[in-house]
Amino acid sequence: MAKNSLFLLPGDGIGPEIMAEVETIIAFLNRKGLTDFSLDRGLVGGSAYDAHGVAISEADMAKALAADAVLFGAVGGPKWDGVPYDCRPEAGLLRLRKDLGLFANLRPAICYPALADASSLKRDVVEGLDILIVRELTGGVYFGEPKEIVTLENGEKRAVDTQVYTTHEIERIARVAFDLAKARNGRVSSAEKRNVMKSGVLWNQVVTKIGREEYADVKLDHILADNCAMQLVRYPKQFDVILTDNLFGDVLSDIGAMLTGSLGMLPSASLGAPDAATGKRKALYEPVHGSAPDIAGTGAANPIAMIASFGMALRYSFGLIDLAGKLDEAIARVLGKGLRTKDIAQKGEATVDTRAMGAAILAEFEALVG
Ligand code: NAD
Ligand code: IPM
Ligand code: MN
Repeated sequence: MAKNSLFLLPGDGIGPEIMAEVETIIAFLNRKGLTDFSLDRGLVGGSAYDAHGVAISEADMAKALAADAVLFGAVGGPKWDGVPYDCRPEAGLLRLRKDLGLFANLRPAICYPALADASSLKRDVVEGLDILIVRELTGGVYFGEPKEIVTLENGEKRAVDTQVYTTHEIERIARVAFDLAKARNGRVSSAEKRNVMKSGVLWNQVVTKIGREEYADVKLDHILADNCAMQLVRYPKQFDVILTDNLFGDVLSDIGAMLTGSLGMLPSASLGAPDAATGKRKALYEPVHGSAPDIAGTGAANPIAMIASFGMALRYSFGLIDLAGKLDEAIARVLGKGLRTKDIAQKGEATVDTRAMGAAILAEFEALVG
């Protein structure tokens, strides 16, 4: 079996704690001969800043570029609040996304049956929920220029961020959303703010054209992003695939996370364009949540978003659909047995810590894999 390379960037806060639970799963898969992953590890975020004075070193960037897939924990924390803006922990993640060309961010919000009561919404609103947010990840206001704070003649300051999208950027993310919708329930809801933003007007036009010309079999509707946020809380099951830009996707996916019970449940895959010669995509897999400095070191972190992100790597980077399905099933079974980290527990009373949750998922996975 050809070796597949994984580059692990655990990061800061709870990042290393949740990554450790994925590493035990990888070790099991390799031991069983079901995979042949080679592992390398690097530093990103505050931990890279402490070691190298940058949010990610050139050597680690080169390793990320060369790997078959990157697994990323989380970055950030109050310790680095005062570091120069370009060196802040989050800059490491943004550089990875940009330099690896990871324009397509898939954030599936699935409510496991056992967690229907963990959401802050009523059971019947979230039970059976299975939606996919497709977030554009390398454009928009995150990367548009100018991006600056300037001092005006009168001494006042003026801050500028620039929202920019080109036809090409919108077309390629739209195709990702339409393709994924075809394999699901055949519906795309495109969210923008064409009522106030030129980029929203173009987004709407380009998505409409791609839908009409290339995906007549997919039902497309357009929704203003603020209404989309409201509808996600009111009646989320009306959605199948939500297609949206970088900033709206960031906000809407945190809402999506809470529908599932906790931010600690939501995985993500960030994919590049297929290579012309090999068809392989650059890819990074990470939970949607951050470094959770408030619980780091306490054993309270839920490792499920990280483990499910690895499941997405099995599916999207390595075509191991059966193993990915079994890993999801292992998570569902452990939740079905009532194991709960603090974030998904009734009244916040945990029955397991991070390591016990990871170990229980691995045990179920081992049983399923046989
Ligand atoms: P956060 O996602 O770190 O935490 C928000 C809340 O959710 C906290 O109460 C936290 O305890 C809880 N939470 C998050 N993940 C959890 C898990 N796996 N299990 C249990 N509870 C969990 O967001 P924040 O507090 O706004 O940001 C903290 C830092 O993380 C900031 O520096 C921010 O920039 C960074 N951040 C990083 C990423 C990333 O690395 N991808 C994403 C979001 C935020
Ligand atoms: C996310 C995070 C990142 C973002 C930050 C940490 C740069 O919030 O992945 O959702 O804003 O994209
Ligand atoms: Mn976010």
